[in-house]
Amino acid sequence: MSRIPLRPEKAGEDIATMEKPPDWSAIFGGDGSLELEIGCGAGGFALEHCRRDPTIRYLAFEWRKKYAREVAHRAEKHGLTRLKVIEGDARIVVPKIFAPNSLDVIHLQFPDPWWKRAHFKRAILLPDFTKLLLGLLKVGGRFDFRTDVEDRAKQGLAVLEKAGFHNPLGPGVFHPYDPEEAPSTRERRYLVTGQPVYRARLVKLAPGHNAVGS
Ligand SMILES: C[S@@+](CC[C@H](N)C(=O)[O-])C[C@H]1O[C@@H](n2cnc3c(N)ncnc32)[C@H](O)[C@@H]1O
Repeated sequence: MSRIPLRPEKAGEDIATMEKPPDWSAIFGGDGSLELEIGCGAGGFALEHCRRDPTIRYLAFEWRKKYAREVAHRAEKHGLTRLKVIEGDARIVVPKIFAPNSLDVIHLQFPDPWWKRAHFKRAILLPDFTKLLLGLLKVGGRFDFRTDVEDRAKQGLAVLEKAGFHNPLGPGVFHPYDPEEAPSTRERRYLVTGQPVYRARLVKLAPGHNAVGS
C-alpha cells in the first residue's frame, strides 16, 4: 500500500461513540445488505467487495489507526460512500451499535492468531462473543470466516458451530475456494504462493431448526 498522510481524526468516530443501534437506513441513505467486517487490515476485501456491489452497507472495524485511516481515505477517494471504517475495538463497539437480527453478513478474515497465552483473550471467536454475533445476524444471514492457520481454523469452526451457526457442508467441513469472491489483502498473497487457506461459510437458521448437521 502506498503511503498516505494520516488524517488527524479517528475513522468513524461518530459511529464508534454511539450508545445504541442507529437507524442504518438513515445513515446510509437507503436499504441494502448490512455487512460487518471485524479486522479489515489494509482493506483489500472491503474495498473490492463494496466496489463490486455499491448497494452494500458495509461497516469495517479496524483498531490499528494507520490501517483504519488509510482504508477510510481510499473508500472516500474511490467514491465508496457505503463503506464506513470504524477505528476501534469491534468487541466493544459491535454489541452497542447493532440490534439483534439486523446483520446480513459478518466477515472475519485472517483474524490474529494470538499465539501467546496472555493474549488469547483478545481472540474474536471466543464462545460468548461468537454467540453474540449469531444473535446480531438475521435468519438466513451468513458468516464468512477465512484463515491460513489450520488449528485456529478448526478451533474457530468448532466454536462457530457450537454457538449455533449452521454449516451447510456438514460439521467441521471447510468451504472450497470460490474464485468469484473478492480476496482479502492477506489472501491475495496466499493465492500467489499457493499456501492453504481454510474457509467456512455458515448460516443462521430459524429458531427451532437443528443447527448441527441439519
Ligand atoms: C491478520 S490481520 C488480517 C487483515 C485482513 N482481514 C486481511 O485478511 O488482510 C487482522 C486484523 O484485525 C485487526 N483486529 C484484531 N482484533 C481487532 C478488534 N478487536 N477490533 C478491530 N480490529 C481488530 C488487526 O489490527 C489486524 O489488522
